[in-house]
Amino acid sequence: MLQVRNLRASYDGVLALSKVDIDVKPGSLVALVGGNGNGKSTTLRAIAGLNKVDAGSIVFDNTDIGKVPPFDRVGLGLSLVPEGRRLFGRLSVQRNLELGAYTRSDKHEIAESIEEMYTTFPIIKERRHQLAGTMSGGEQQMLAIARGLMAKPRLLLLDEPSWGIAPKFVTKVLDTIQQVNAKGVSILLVEQNLHKALAIAHYGYVIQTGRIVMEGTGSELLNNDDIKKAYLGGL
Ligand SMILES: Nc1ncnc2c1ncn2[C@@H]1O[C@H](COP(=O)(O)OP(=O)(O)O)[C@@H](O)[C@H]1O
Ligand SMILES: [Mg+2]
Repeated sequence: MLQVRNLRASYDGVLALSKVDIDVKPGSLVALVGGNGNGKSTTLRAIAGLNKVDAGSIVFDNTDIGKVPPFDRVGLGLSLVPEGRRLFGRLSVQRNLELGAYTRSDKHEIAESIEEMYTTFPIIKERRHQLAGTMSGGEQQMLAIARGLMAKPRLLLLDEPSWGIAPKFVTKVLDTIQQVNAKGVSILLVEQNLHKALAIAHYGYVIQTGRIVMEGTGSELLNNDDIKKAYLGGL
């Protein structure tokens, strides 16, 4: 479904990604893990078309999308839930969901999708008329994921959904992500929270200073001695 090859990217001449190769097979949940500042967000933003790349290719459904503008990538079925959520805090939950459908035009279908979101995310249904910015971090993350799904993506890109939310809520959010994947949406999940992400991923990649240094199934990586040493206890 997604093939990222030899991706290279920089900020003002400083290399952020030197060699990133990632594959997401249809229906799978793939994790990209690594510590802060290693290039996870840059990779996702490049896939979404929000960061320019210096070299390499991004193929989605057999089409090279390297030159496709971000809005059209959403139309093709790629949706990004950005780092830090970026909700419209002063707008209602419902309005945030509506705005997630910005590439769609059928009002009736959009209303149906909103009802689907309320079924998948009961927490946000209770709060549909509340301002998004007044909810807890975990609730906001649920809304951010739901808003991302309002674009009807076939591949959802999730940037650190566990960021800034209470530990007991992290499991809930990750369960929901698994549930979304089980319904047929492929997922590329970026996390610093290595153990939790690899525990739910079919396949995982470890990124370090802009380079994929290890890959394997979730359990292979979790049982890998180098990873145990490098990420001992933490992350
Ligand atoms: N807007 C930016 N301008 C300049 N450098 C940036 C910018 N965003 C990220 N970087 C740098 O690129 C590298 C990768 O960052 P990032 O992709 O955000 O990592 P991660 O998401 O893994 O924390 C880091 O060295 C970071 O400082
Ligand atoms: Mg990041």
